[in-house]
Amino acid sequence: MACLPSPAILVFICMLALVPLVHSVPFIVLHGIGDKCSSRGVAKFTELLSNWSGSQGYCVEIGDGGWDSWTMPLLEQTAIACEKVKNISELSEGYNIVGLSQGTVIGRGVVEWCDGAPPVKNFISLAGIHAGIASIPFCRSEWFCILVDALVKLEVYSDYVQEHLAPSGYIKIPTDISGYLKGCKFLPKLNNEINNTRNSTYKERFSSLDNLVLIMFEQDTVLVPKETSWFGYFPDGAFDPILPAQETLLYTEDWIGLKILDEAGKVKFINVSGGHLQISQSDMKEYIVPYLEDQASIQMMRRETSSYEWLSSMWNFLLELVGFTEDQPLLRTMD
Ligand SMILES: *[C@@H]1O[C@H](CO)[C@@H](O)[C@H](O)[C@H]1NC(C)=O
Ligand SMILES: *[C@@H]1O[C@H](CO)[C@@H](O)[C@H](O)[C@H]1NC(C)=O
Ligand SMILES: *[C@@H]1O[C@H](CO)[C@@H](O)[C@H](O)[C@H]1NC(C)=O
Ligand SMILES: *[C@@H]1O[C@H](CO)[C@@H](O)[C@H](O)[C@H]1NC(C)=O
Ligand SMILES: *[C@@H]1O[C@H](CO)[C@@H](O)[C@H](O)[C@H]1NC(C)=O
Repeated sequence: MACLPSPAILVFICMLALVPLVHSVPFIVLHGIGDKCSSRGVAKFTELLSNWSGSQGYCVEIGDGGWDSWTMPLLEQTAIACEKVKNISELSEGYNIVGLSQGTVIGRGVVEWCDGAPPVKNFISLAGIHAGIASIPFCRSEWFCILVDALVKLEVYSDYVQEHLAPSGYIKIPTDISGYLKGCKFLPKLNNEINNTRNSTYKERFSSLDNLVLIMFEQDTVLVPKETSWFGYFPDGAFDPILPAQETLLYTEDWIGLKILDEAGKVKFINVSGGHLQISQSDMKEYIVPYLEDQASIQMMRRETSSYEWLSSMWNFLLELVGFTEDQPLLRTMD
């Protein structure tokens, strides 16, 4: 670029040129079941991500949070999230979604179905329930097993359960696929699973994401199988083996555009240590924050602060060596 001859003015103008003109992209947080935006964990999670990324974060609440997250059908929860997103004027130029557990499928519903909403750029999914959950044979989390057993006995795919218990919208019993496709009101639609009703708009919108970050928790015992966070699941008719996403029909026939995204290198399959939603602050910084930062301003900062970053990472390394880490779980877990 052409800077003026006087050195002082030259420095000034060159600095101006480095100030990012683009506003950073805001993000929304969609919390998990039984939680709410005002809980300490979710509020701190949202605030930390805002602070570290320099982007404004909004926790989008659906109804009263805790109770409604359990009892309101997911189609309704998604419709509310959709209206709220359209109502936040700061999101109108596009935004990122950070979904937690049940919030990941609501977020995906917003991406696929929310007509007239601003575009979603990056979708960060923590402990996502993308391919459903099954439970029973491998279930290790006491109360959840009892609940699911009770649900199954009550007929999870009956209209009554579907209308009164949100998780029934993503329980997929591998040995009752026809019951699931017929009775389950949420996941079959979200995943475009039903032959004659596939809607190409869902695929078009989902495959337009810039990045899809799928964070699976290695010791997750709430999600059965935990690989559902990577779109992996049991085959139809059996409880083993667990198929990786790439071997499921959803992927090979590309019902929602996951294959398109993956082949474009836009899907990040991340495996972190911890139980359900127990993400450490260092993993948040490593796997979430980069997708929330404004790309233009980061490049500028990288250029200006590389020595600072080097010092800072040395410092963190030393702190970790002496066992002083900031890694306490933030989010409420279901088990
Ligand atoms: C975020 O930054 C603000 C302003 O610097 C600070 O007051 C607040 O404590 C930070 N939040 C967290 C959770 O660290
Ligand atoms: C949208 O915003 C308006 C004004 O802020 C408010 O009255 C209305 O209830 C909001 N609607 C939703 C669905 O949040
Ligand atoms: C497909 O989904 C879009 C977005 O929700 C909707 O506008 C459209 O009417 C749907 N098409 C059909 C054939 O159902
Ligand atoms: C759906 O399509 C697949 C092939 O794509 C076929 O194997 C299956 O039988 C069809 N199912 C129904 C219910 O039509
Ligand atoms: C997740 O990471 C652990 C080690 O960190 C590894 O043992 C395990 O196989 C990984 N899981 C997958 C599905 O890659």
